Amino acid sequence: MKIPPVKGTRDFYPPDMAVRNWIIDGWKRASLRNGFEEYDGPIFEYLKMFQVKSGDEIAEQLFSLKDRGGRDLALRPEITPTLARMVNQRINSLPKPIKWFSVPRLFRAERPQKGRLREFFQWNVDIIGVDDVLADAEVIFCALDYLREVGLGPNDVVVKISSRKMLAALLQSIGVAEDELDDLYAVLDKRSRLPEDTFEKVLAESIMDDEKRTRILGLMGVESIDQLNAMADLTEQASESVEELRRVFELLGVMGVGDYCGFDIGIVRGLAYYTGIVYEIYDKASELRAIGGGGRYDNLLGQFGGPAVAATGFGIGDCVLAILLEEKGLLQKQLPARKLDYFVACVNEAYRQAAVKLTMELRSAGWTASFSYKASKLSKQLKEASDQNATSCVIIGSEIENDQLVVKNMAIGAQELIKFGKFLQQCHIES
Ligand code: HAM
Repeated sequence: MKIPPVKGTRDFYPPDMAVRNWIIDGWKRASLRNGFEEYDGPIFEYLKMFQVKSGDEIAEQLFSLKDRGGRDLALRPEITPTLARMVNQRINSLPKPIKWFSVPRLFRAERPQKGRLREFFQWNVDIIGVDDVLADAEVIFCALDYLREVGLGPNDVVVKISSRKMLAALLQSIGVAEDELDDLYAVLDKRSRLPEDTFEKVLAESIMDDEKRTRILGLMGVESIDQLNAMADLTEQASESVEELRRVFELLGVMGVGDYCGFDIGIVRGLAYYTGIVYEIYDKASELRAIGGGGRYDNLLGQFGGPAVAATGFGIGDCVLAILLEEKGLLQKQLPARKLDYFVACVNEAYRQAAVKLTMELRSAGWTASFSYKASKLSKQLKEASDQNATSCVIIGSEIENDQLVVKNMAIGAQELIKFGKFLQQCHIES
């Protein structure tokens, strides 16, 4: 009976694993140099944790399960609610601001498509306890610091930035009621993924009033912050949030990543908990789905029973990122190939035990070392050594009776007969 892998999952064969590790190691390096500490939580949580605060889209995509006690659980589709729960639990003892990162394995029952799977890895970087857009700019910088390190420039990726606070103020001034906003955000978030007429139909189901709808469509056509500033009827809240947005761009400029960033009023985000600056990272050609997204979520900790604490952060998945890096030729060439310091060969069966013993001694002294499982001809063993990318091949043969062995430099092919004791000394192995 052949059992196929589950739809939307991936098998990581060693070369795939090397890609995954290379991506994740880069995420961790960028997080650490930007001053973040790593955390993690459980892979499953109570189902209600994701139903309440993440929003309908994610709730529909949950993999849920019941434990033996009949409790409803779900595999985590994101880690932000877990972060809020963990911070709330120790809110009084954790030194603030909290700068944490994580690389969780996440699960979403989405329809698998290019860049969207049912199981993936997501880099999360969050700052909790800073009620200033400097923190929003800093996390955006951290994402760009990584993307820049792997070779993606402003011609390859763009961070599209807007503000939910600003959108709320503008929509309310058009006459949208506060309790209508969440549903409307979900509709507006789909705009870039739908043909124009389909979007207008979906919008009409949510906003019946023709005039209001026309004004919303007009608002979604705004292309710059200057255009917003020029609007005559800005409410106080709207002008405050436009100013906040302007400051974010100014800070990103100061941080040296301004050329990656642009204003896009269409960025609303699918998750329900965002309250301020929001952004999504895309490939510049806009051919792929979002590489990542995030924003400010000042109410989430309070909604989970803690005090109201400001929070901001982002998530970047591994799938679209890997596709883009591959397309740009930035993926393969940087992968570490398997490498050995020493391959220990023996000229015949009589010296096999000595070869195995020396291999283990080399490993214990910290070298990467291997041997052949077959007492094949020396030429075959040398081929194995070269297939395994060995720097040196140690050959044990009759010379060992005179306390000597041969060391072959695999790169240039030169061979050297050296004293066994000297070799052990060179390798820091006690004889
Ligand atoms: P999100 O927009 O749902 O945000 O996901 C962020 C990124 O995760 C996406 O842009 C995408 O790269 C990746 N992603 C999402 N779903 C899938 C999928 N099915 N397959 C592959 N990749 C996927 C969040 O999850 C927020 N919790 C991020 C955040 C952290 N906000 C504040 N802090």
